[in-house]
Amino acid sequence: MDREEKVDLRSDTVTRPSPGMREAMARATVGDDVFGEDPTINELEQRAAGMFGKEASLFVPSGTMANLLAALSQTRPGDTIILSEDSHPYNYESGNIALVAGVLTRTIRCRYGILSAEQIAANIVKTEDHHFSPTTIISIENTSNRGGGAIYPIETVAAIGVLARERGLKLHCDGARIFNAVVETGVTPVEYASHVDTISFCLSKGLGCPVGSLLLGDRATIWAAHRYRKMLGGGMRQAGILAAAGIYALDHNIERLREDHRRARVFRQELEGTPGLSFPMPSPTNMVYLQVADAREITHHLAEQGVLVHPAAADMIRVVFHLDVSDTELDLAVNAFRKALSTLGD
Ligand SMILES: Cc1ncc(COP(=O)(O)O)c(C=O)c1O
Repeated sequence: MDREEKVDLRSDTVTRPSPGMREAMARATVGDDVFGEDPTINELEQRAAGMFGKEASLFVPSGTMANLLAALSQTRPGDTIILSEDSHPYNYESGNIALVAGVLTRTIRCRYGILSAEQIAANIVKTEDHHFSPTTIISIENTSNRGGGAIYPIETVAAIGVLARERGLKLHCDGARIFNAVVETGVTPVEYASHVDTISFCLSKGLGCPVGSLLLGDRATIWAAHRYRKMLGGGMRQAGILAAAGIYALDHNIERLREDHRRARVFRQELEGTPGLSFPMPSPTNMVYLQVADAREITHHLAEQGVLVHPAAADMIRVVFHLDVSDTELDLAVNAFRKALSTLGD
């Protein structure tokens, strides 16, 4: 525990590059990527496209930009995007779909952030009547952040893919944490990606990189996204240093996500039945949401004990396991929660 003696469970984005990753970054061969001349970025993009069975991929600074580029390159201003009411783009990307892509959001309330093909079908607008904004894209999130790290069943992804093709819609998967789904289910990245037009994934979450996401799709879509990335100021130069971290992460940090899932399960089991808290949703991957009377107060008590968590709502705390959390820190967190809850129960 070297983060100023804190156990940081606020998010899997707080991970810092390991010594091995830093070494890979220091050794990276680089060039000007705006000219397409950074060999390490080219290698990462080719590697990612191959892993997901897509024609092309684009290295971008963030998951937010990847989702935005997916919308920009597959819609026109005035179109409608369908997504879950709990989706990241709708809740946490600062309204960029509205402002930058000019696209209307049609959100659907669903359990754990997982949409069904039937729910989506009931919300599609396809008509010649110019009163209406046409639905042109669906966005699903796997795993679902606000859904407690819920995983889309592959049958559901397949059914949504069939629906999208039948109705002539594009389908994007915000796969910020797709590798958490991959290691938990054994469903391959190629299989998940085969049902969607575009998929993004983040290097800077459980995979432990400082920066970076990839957007994958067919050549034409990724070429369109490449132009929008430039427009948004996301054309990077010698960013092969960052891509080297990504290649390192793909080599070393995927399988170990299982460890984060195991720790999330143990954490939950240890606290199950503790007075003053309940678990509002399952925790199949690396996140645990805890319902408490006063999230801010508990968060404060935990911080005093060196444990940082995210108060996701007035009565909800989110805890996320990642590669900078060991078993010792897991124990510290469990004990800190017990103490905070018993103090408040007095
Ligand atoms: C599901 C999901 N999508 C997209 C993002 C955005 O990623 P970034 O923070 O790299 O913009 C996040 C970030 O937490 C996320 O959880």
